[in-house]
Amino acid sequence: MARRSRTATTNLPTGEERANLVRDMFDRIAGRYELLNAVMTAGLYRIWNRKVIRATGLRPGDTALDLACGTGSLTRELAEMVGPEGSVLGIDFSAEMLRAAKERPAPNVEYRLGDATDLAGVPSARFDAATIAYGARNIPDLDGLFSEMARVLKPGGTAVCLEIARPTDRLSGAFYGLWFDRIVPKVGGMISGDPQAYAYLPESVKAFVAPNELAVIMERNGLQNVTWDRLGGGIITLHRGTGSPDGPR
Ligand SMILES: C[S@@+](CC[C@H](N)C(=O)[O-])C[C@H]1O[C@@H](n2cnc3c(N)ncnc32)[C@H](O)[C@@H]1O
Repeated sequence: MARRSRTATTNLPTGEERANLVRDMFDRIAGRYELLNAVMTAGLYRIWNRKVIRATGLRPGDTALDLACGTGSLTRELAEMVGPEGSVLGIDFSAEMLRAAKERPAPNVEYRLGDATDLAGVPSARFDAATIAYGARNIPDLDGLFSEMARVLKPGGTAVCLEIARPTDRLSGAFYGLWFDRIVPKVGGMISGDPQAYAYLPESVKAFVAPNELAVIMERNGLQNVTWDRLGGGIITLHRGTGSPDGPR
């Protein structure tokens, strides 16, 4: 029997077992995901989406890739930014999240079922920007994720990663502990009818790499000039890097 590998600080499985757990979980909560996202972030997710759009530097006519696009909340905003002359590809490995995304189609958006760490069929040096919002902490193979992002970016294109983080200052830390560790699992579990999924959320944040480590992982996979900021009083991080001016390695 295969040994169950687990992360050091939490009970989360790793590897294929983690991917299956995450995929099944998002398949189950897809129908209520956007409502819950709005409730859990008190609507702030829209402001953070806009910060991502600004960080990409996208302009009308550009091409963008949205990895772990889920129900398409950020994908639709990217599509608005690039306009009818541009195009956006959204990729996710949960068929149900994609089904919800496709309920709100746009002519310049294509949704595709796929794994963010293995973008088979996506050509190299294709996109002006590649984004991932609240996806990276679900993906144990961060080298796979960011090397693929770097590969598909045009020379000088922009990669942006938005994630939930544990804040470092005491006040935000106390708020975070109350909100994400206690209230979100209860309220999320009640509204979604899936307590396991919303108990996973704080666990996955706990198991995720620190923001400075994430920047190092992005750089070692070919992204350059990586910078990062904290948003929302420190509970969100936004990392930004650029594809090599010489094209992918
Ligand atoms: C918290 S949701 C975020 C959805 C969306 N980006 C948003 O901003 O609302 C995380 C998504 O990551 C997807 N996901 C997790 N691991 C993935 C992987 N390896 N490849 C593709 N999608 C993945 C899940 O299916 C889920 O839809």
